Order: sequence, then structure tokens, then C-alpha cells
Amino acid sequence: MSDPVRVGVSGFLGRMGANVVEAVQGASDMLYVGGADPSAQASVSENRYDRIEDLLENARPDVVVDFSVPASVYDNAMKTLRAGAHCVVGTTGLSEEQRQYLDDAARARSVGILVAPNFAVGAVLMMEFARKASAFFEGVEIIELHHDKKVDAPSGTALMTAGKIGENWQPAAQSDTSRAPARGQAVSGVAVHSVRLPGLVAHQEVLFGNPGEALTIRHDSFDRKSFMPGVLLGVRRIREHQGLVYGLENFLFG
Ligand SMILES: NC(=O)c1ccc[n+]([C@@H]2O[C@H](COP(=O)([O-])OP(=O)(O)OC[C@H]3O[C@@H](n4cnc5c(N)ncnc54)[C@H](O)[C@@H]3O)[C@@H](O)[C@H]2O)c1
Repeated sequence: MSDPVRVGVSGFLGRMGANVVEAVQGASDMLYVGGADPSAQASVSENRYDRIEDLLENARPDVVVDFSVPASVYDNAMKTLRAGAHCVVGTTGLSEEQRQYLDDAARARSVGILVAPNFAVGAVLMMEFARKASAFFEGVEIIELHHDKKVDAPSGTALMTAGKIGENWQPAAQSDTSRAPARGQAVSGVAVHSVRLPGLVAHQEVLFGNPGEALTIRHDSFDRKSFMPGVLLGVRRIREHQGLVYGLENFLFG
């Protein structure tokens, strides 16, 4: 049997990070080698670090999973790649330009980086179904709903869904969001509405309309465990790649 994959977790004290630690510890082909989080009381003997540099140097992970904060994800991913480790990123907030720099850095070290706005299998399918449906409808809008502690809006999933719809949508007229804030934010011509409420986890509806008919595609993550099979798949598959892979669909359908 081959050696287990050595996995480190950046943001290991957060809601997602803590779930990833548990999922990795429960995977027979992986070894959890430590976590980094500025909120941690650093202890090398307990594999807890407050700086990602220390995690990379002491724990020598093959793959680092990052669920930190939008302000730090680029820096964390860049340090991981430059240290020669693969990276699996769930944190939202990376711009297209930053993804390009990360792709260059990964290729320079012959490692891979997966950036996935949503690791839930159902959410990836929702985006794929929305991409397909968009060729057949005149109008489409997105409502994304998340817990009230989420810092960014619209969500990374909504941005990615709108981008996929924009690939083959031939709208009679794009959503006009300019007249009132309540009409949402236009992303690739699609109006996106963000709801933030306590009690929610991560939910999204894509609503399509034609004269006389409507189609609604909805996905709900009720528990953060819904993201874990996708994260583990990413950890297993990213080591076969060099450069940046955008979206879990590349591993799910590829
Ligand atoms: N891709 C997906 O499927 C998916 C699913 C859920 C959430 N998310 C995203 O994951 C991110 C984390 O979400 P969360 O709910 O766990 O947030 P959270 O606030 O619960 O946790 C974030 C953690 O990151 C830590 N942190 C802050 N600065 C850091 C740094 N420089 N390096 C390492 N860690 C740092 C914080 O101390 C905290 O423990 C968000 O961007 C969220 O939108 C993605």
C-alpha cells in the first residue's frame, strides 16, 4: 500500500477547517499532519501553528487545504505552492488575476492547486444543470442564501454559476439591475440576490423564466459535512496535476 497523503489545514480552527480536520482524520489514505490558524496557541508537539510558514516547514504536508479568510487566501496559497506542496482552496475571494499568478507559481514548482467555490457534489451538479438550462430560457436570476457570518457577497458559488450561465445564454434582454438596489447585482448580465440569515448554511436557487413557464433549480447544504467528500476528492486528485484547476467539476466529471 502507498504512503498516506500528508495533509495540513490552513484555517483549522474555523467552521470549515474543523470539519476538514475531522474528515482527513477519518480517511484511511490520509494523514493529518497539522493546522495553521492565527487564532491558534502554537505548539509544535501538538501540530498546531499560528503561521502557515511554520506548518509548511515543520509538518511537511503533501497537500494544504485552505479554508481561511478572503484577505489571506492568496498569500497562504502562494506560500504553499512555493514550498512545493499542492493546494486545495475552498476560501472565496480569489480574483481571476490572482488565480493566474497562482497557476504560474504552481507550474514553476510542478505542483497543482484546486480552487473550488463549492465542494458540495449537489452544488456542482446545480451549476452544471443551470449552464445547460440557460440555452433554453429568456430570463434567469440567482438567489443565494447563506448564514449571517459570511463576509463576502455575492457568494463564490453565485459568481461561478453566473459565469457558467453567461457562457451560453442568449438573453432577450439582460436583467436590468440599474434602477433599484432591490433588483440585485448584475454578474455576467445575471441579477444575483444575496440573503444572509442566522440558521442558514449555504443555499442557492437559479430561477429561469420563459413566457408561460418557469424552471427553478435549488441546492441546499444543511451541514458543512456536505462539502467533505468533495474536499477529500480534491486532495486525492490534485497531486496528479500541475497548475491551477478551477472547479470541482473537473474532477467529478473528468
Ligand atoms: N468552497 C466551499 O465549498 C466553501 C464552503 C463553505 C465555506 N467556504 C468559504 O470558506 C471560507 C471559510 O469559511 P468558514 O465558515 O470556515 O469561516 P470561519 O470564519 O469559521 O473560519 C476562518 C478561519 O480562518 C482563520 N484565519 C484567519 N486568518 C488566517 C490566515 N492568515 N491563515 C490561516 N487561517 C486564518 C480564522 O482564525 C478562522 O479560524 C470562507 O471564505 C467561506 O466563504 C467555502
